[in-house]
Amino acid sequence: MADRMRALAAERYGGPEVLQLREVPVPVPGEGELLVRVAASTVNRTDTATLRGYPFLARLFTGFPRPRFDVFGHEFAGTVEGAGDSVTRFAPGDRVFGLSPDRFGTHAEFVAVPADGAVARVPDGHPLIEAVVAEGAWYAEGSVRDVVPGQEVLIYGASGAIGIAALQLARDRGARVTAVVGPRHLDLMRELGADSVIDYTTGTWSDLDTRFDLVMDAVGKTSYFACRHLLKPGGGYRATDLGPRGSNVWLGLWSGLTRSGRVALPLPTDAPGFVTRLAGLMAAGRFRGVFDRAYPFEQIADAYAYVETGQKTGIVVIDMGPTAEVRRLFDPDT
Ligand SMILES: NC(=O)c1ccc[n+]([C@@H]2O[C@H](COP(=O)([O-])OP(=O)(O)OC[C@H]3O[C@@H](n4cnc5c(N)ncnc54)[C@H](OP(=O)(O)O)[C@@H]3O)[C@@H](O)[C@H]2O)c1
Repeated sequence: MADRMRALAAERYGGPEVLQLREVPVPVPGEGELLVRVAASTVNRTDTATLRGYPFLARLFTGFPRPRFDVFGHEFAGTVEGAGDSVTRFAPGDRVFGLSPDRFGTHAEFVAVPADGAVARVPDGHPLIEAVVAEGAWYAEGSVRDVVPGQEVLIYGASGAIGIAALQLARDRGARVTAVVGPRHLDLMRELGADSVIDYTTGTWSDLDTRFDLVMDAVGKTSYFACRHLLKPGGGYRATDLGPRGSNVWLGLWSGLTRSGRVALPLPTDAPGFVTRLAGLMAAGRFRGVFDRAYPFEQIADAYAYVETGQKTGIVVIDMGPTAEVRRLFDPDT
């Protein structure tokens, strides 16, 4: 195995133009770590926000004045190439997927991750490409984890990575889901099991007679004040973004202080537990990824630029090679 690999780095915060593909040493797995040969990764909104250093306070975690980590990327699917001492859970050749939420590093040909971290086996028969589904789903889980059967849930902007995952996770918990999306996504929402689908461009979604236990803004395009009339007494508003003038932060703090649970900007937790649960849902056919397009690793800066448009449908995949699996999914003739 080569001791150098290609990896994506940036010396400063900025747009896709500051990204650099570099040759760096292949990581050496330490005690309790796996070395994964990455077959597929994603570029998601967490990656683009990390590159921009947005929100500014996040730099306390990602580094100040420049990114503190060597290699970008949060998500991976691939095969175990090696393991450090004391790893018994996985063996070389295992097909795995997961997240690297603290150390990043998945936009590279190899990544070292803790074997007891956010990593699980790809279910038998699932192509590796269909396993890069965890990042958006992990964020979605924070908003829908308290849903119980029979509840009414409205997901505003259900066509992004978080919204598509939230729709499936809420349905899986037995909720009745109303999806509000643009006209090009209406059929997809029905395919994914939405009970009711509304085109946001008609402006009619806020006139609904239904009252909801949960209203989730999955794309940061509405606000609590625009939605509160749709909530049942005791219902909750969940956001994925700061909201106009940071309103979701302040309203969330107030809801926490008063214990009303009315507004929250949930941060995802327990990545290891969630990835394991997601593997079970995928194996049972209860969760699937929706993929917008794939980019070869050499064009990853273009993928960052596309994701920043805020117009992707679901997940943008990075084909790290050496597998042709990713290309085949999008172009069956190759
Ligand atoms: N670290 C972070 O800061 C962080 C991390 C993760 C997520 N987030 C936030 O989470 C949100 C969702 O992320 P994501 O990856 O799921 O989003 P995404 O994939 O970028 O969402 C894009 C989708 O939103 C739809 N959309 C655009 N404008 C809309 C509008 N006005 N109303 C309804 N739908 C609209 C687009 O469909 P059309 O083009 O057809 O309208 C597109 O399908 C983002 O706001 C992101 O900033 C932040």
